[in-house]
Amino acid sequence: MRVAMIGAGYVGLVSGTCFADFGHTVTCVDTDAAKIDNLRAGRLPIYEPGLDQLVAANMRQGRLDFTTDLAAAVADADAVFIAVGTPSRRGDGHADLTYVHQAAAQIATALTRYTVVVNKSTVPVGTGDQVERIIREANPAADFSVASNPEFLREGAAIEDFKRPDRIVIGAEDPRAQEVMRDLYRPLFLNQAPLVMTGRRTAELTKYAANAFLAMKVTFINEMADLCEQVGANVQEVARGIGLDKRIGAKFLHAGPGYGGSCFPKDTLALVKTAQDHGSPVRLVETTVAINDARKRAMAARIITACDGDVAGKRIAILGLTFKPNTDDMRDAPSIVIINELQAAGARIIAYDPEGVDQAKQVLRDIDYAADPYACADGADALVIVTEWDAFRALDLNELRKRLRHPALIDLRNIYPPEDVAEAGLRYWSVGRPSGAPAADDPAQ
Ligand code: UDX
Repeated sequence: MRVAMIGAGYVGLVSGTCFADFGHTVTCVDTDAAKIDNLRAGRLPIYEPGLDQLVAANMRQGRLDFTTDLAAAVADADAVFIAVGTPSRRGDGHADLTYVHQAAAQIATALTRYTVVVNKSTVPVGTGDQVERIIREANPAADFSVASNPEFLREGAAIEDFKRPDRIVIGAEDPRAQEVMRDLYRPLFLNQAPLVMTGRRTAELTKYAANAFLAMKVTFINEMADLCEQVGANVQEVARGIGLDKRIGAKFLHAGPGYGGSCFPKDTLALVKTAQDHGSPVRLVETTVAINDARKRAMAARIITACDGDVAGKRIAILGLTFKPNTDDMRDAPSIVIINELQAAGARIIAYDPEGVDQAKQVLRDIDYAADPYACADGADALVIVTEWDAFRALDLNELRKRLRHPALIDLRNIYPPEDVAEAGLRYWSVGRPSGAPAADDPAQ
């Protein structure tokens, strides 16, 4: 089948490349000519494990191409995916649909035969109706259907998620559209990936409900972590104890500095707004958003406490800046709030991140960057693990101890056993574990 993917951002690029890998012929379209030139030359605008090889292989085999010419890509496509950005609208948290509407208007005049226009961007309920209206008004004779097919790709594991999904959600009322969508995803049915065929509005809401539920799950365990610290319990063991209950499930129960990224913060807010607009508020999600916002600031306060209540003039070393490992994405990363708060309290920041430094430079100011984790720790008053990159999981703690001016390790991802850290002579703070207790020789004890 022939596919046009409008938007060569994260979702469009991964989805387009994976469809090509299934054997479909895919053209990815973007308005950014420099991005398209780079893609054609094999240079990707994002870091995603395995994606560069997959792009190269499918380009070589002639199934994947990149262009700025939307009309040409749409003209002979069986399915046109809209995978453009839907950022939070400044000020009110509603999803900004400008790019979706623009794409719909441009697609409208480029249609030449029956085509399924598929919303892959995360869009509020009813956006499919808007897209349909825009196309109908711009091109009354067009033969098309509008479907919704939300993505559930995790950054860092997006190819795996696309090729081995827990489920595929397709919202399409028109049987012709259902048929095209089934054909597109047929390679996955062989793997028995469940297909949830539903109405368009249901599919649109399903995406928000999934992300809000996961954000709530993370927030729940973060609050349990706070409680664990107060009552002397261990949140990792609580998580295991509840996660083995199949009704709860073990995933998304890692306590940490709060969720970030391109999806959870934006999608929870958009769901809150949609629900309020319809007079049916989702109070659990509203509370989740508020708790998560406060948590990032609380993490900065925890670091300040670990530095004896004062970071003015102190050098704080930060390991990990991206919102999670295996990505260079800095969008809504907890590190941003944490670093801003520390800087406001007078700290000097030195940071190391394996992939995120270029993006970090766009959003953070007055930071020194180190070449590796040990150089980062050199002469610092505290070392803080904010993102759980694999490269940070087996650091030589004795070496860190020697490099640090003050032996304080604040591990916001719980990646070290407290005993190992204490053995290396470091004072250790983690999240929701008894490790909050300082090492034995600590005068503050
Ligand atoms: C998410 C969804 O998982 C995906 O299905 C959706 O389509 C896009 O949004 P992503 O944002 O890439 O994917 O990251 P994810 O792995 O879900 O993590 C989101 C945030 O939650 C990160 O900040 C992560 O650090 C945090 N998190 C996740 C935790 O703090 N603890 C956990 O147990 C899991």
